[in-house]
Amino acid sequence: MSRPDAGSSDAARLSAVEGLLECWLGLDPGTIGSAAIQRAVRIRMTALEIDGLEAYVDVAERDRAERDRLVEEVVVPESWFFRDRQVFDFVRGFATTVAALPGRGPLRILSAPCAGGEEPYSVAMALLEAGLGPARFIIDAVDVSRKALGRAERGVYSANAFRNADHSFRDRWFCGEDGGFVIDTAVRQCVRFHWGNIVDRGFAEGLGGPAAAYDVIFCRNLLIYLTAEARDRVEKNVGRLLAADGLLVVGAAEPPTLQGRWIPAADSSIFALKRGPQGGGPLAVPKAAATATGRPRPGPTPLTGAMELASASIVEATAGPATGHLPLDEVVRQAGGLANDQRFVEALTCCQQHLSQFGPSAEVFFLMGMIQQSAGDADQAEGCFHKTLYLDPDHEDALLALALSASRRGDAATASRFRQAAARASARKAAS
Ligand SMILES: C[S@@+](CC[C@H](N)C(=O)[O-])C[C@H]1O[C@@H](n2cnc3c(N)ncnc32)[C@H](O)[C@@H]1O
Repeated sequence: MSRPDAGSSDAARLSAVEGLLECWLGLDPGTIGSAAIQRAVRIRMTALEIDGLEAYVDVAERDRAERDRLVEEVVVPESWFFRDRQVFDFVRGFATTVAALPGRGPLRILSAPCAGGEEPYSVAMALLEAGLGPARFIIDAVDVSRKALGRAERGVYSANAFRNADHSFRDRWFCGEDGGFVIDTAVRQCVRFHWGNIVDRGFAEGLGGPAAAYDVIFCRNLLIYLTAEARDRVEKNVGRLLAADGLLVVGAAEPPTLQGRWIPAADSSIFALKRGPQGGGPLAVPKAAATATGRPRPGPTPLTGAMELASASIVEATAGPATGHLPLDEVVRQAGGLANDQRFVEALTCCQQHLSQFGPSAEVFFLMGMIQQSAGDADQAEGCFHKTLYLDPDHEDALLALALSASRRGDAATASRFRQAAARASARKAAS
């Protein structure tokens, strides 16, 4: 593949690939980033031994198998067991109440996207532990990544999938084998995995049940990465598949991405939604959310302040178990120095090189957002903060930065939602 600056024709071809990904998956190229797409294309071109970008675009357009391989390089099947623990407590309470209704058939639950199975298996463990036998519920789990589905079906996980402080469930439902953790057959048998693209019109039609069959639909940590049109298609699919009194579970940062046909399922809930009144107004804000953090966050930040904020966040994340051994401190040092010298393009290039080398990282996207903000490009900054949230929905600083951007453009309702999401992220962190 030619260098990214090799000319406008390469840029046009890359944007053709971005257009294909947007059309196939609904992915917003502005959110996922050209660097990530370029990296994916480069990997595929190397594998196919194709030199020219034009030739690659031609193959990707014609060959469905190649399309799927490119998709595998672009998606981020990042997940872990009991991600946002309180979600599973809430759903367990809902499920046991519904299951106790007289004459009730098995409860139906959909997890889409399910990544490597961590989410649907967490639901299965939660329900089994609540005393619901396997005949009392059916879990369908869908993803567009065949690799992720293969991992889910194998049911063997590394320590990375156990990022929660509470590991007691691992002792009950997994056994250690060759450095991995193998899920118990009793849990595995509760989940049926399927390939599917959630933005397709007929999504999940072939899964066996009638329309509006699901009592609970999990659709977490994807919406934030989709174009507005794709989000609308997902909402329509969810609307078709969810029972009238069913529960829609989204990521903590995702309610502001929905179109307002949903209301919180409980006062304290930002993630579990139910259908609002027909033609209802914007997404209602839970009462408990009235206590926003009020923490001053990144105002029209002088550059040094922005870099300090980014560094603080990165130090915090480096200490956690999920970040691996990426040399983030080196990126911060280099990009921060360049940005302090007002060399924004070079600072961003430095971050992009890190992403190309190591793959998507919430902290690097956040740093890029701060640099874009300092450079005065509010739109690009927002895109970076959304990418941050896609990888880490509880990233408080990104939530607050988005709240600030929204209030700057006079969108008080969205600003308030992001502030409330940040308050909840902060409360969750304090409680964990
Ligand atoms: C970050 S994971 C989220 C997994 C899980 N819901 C969670 O919150 O932990 C995002 C997943 O979305 C899948 N994905 C991306 N676009 C999709 C689409 N159009 N249809 C179905 N799955 C998609 C990816 O393959 C990836 O596994």
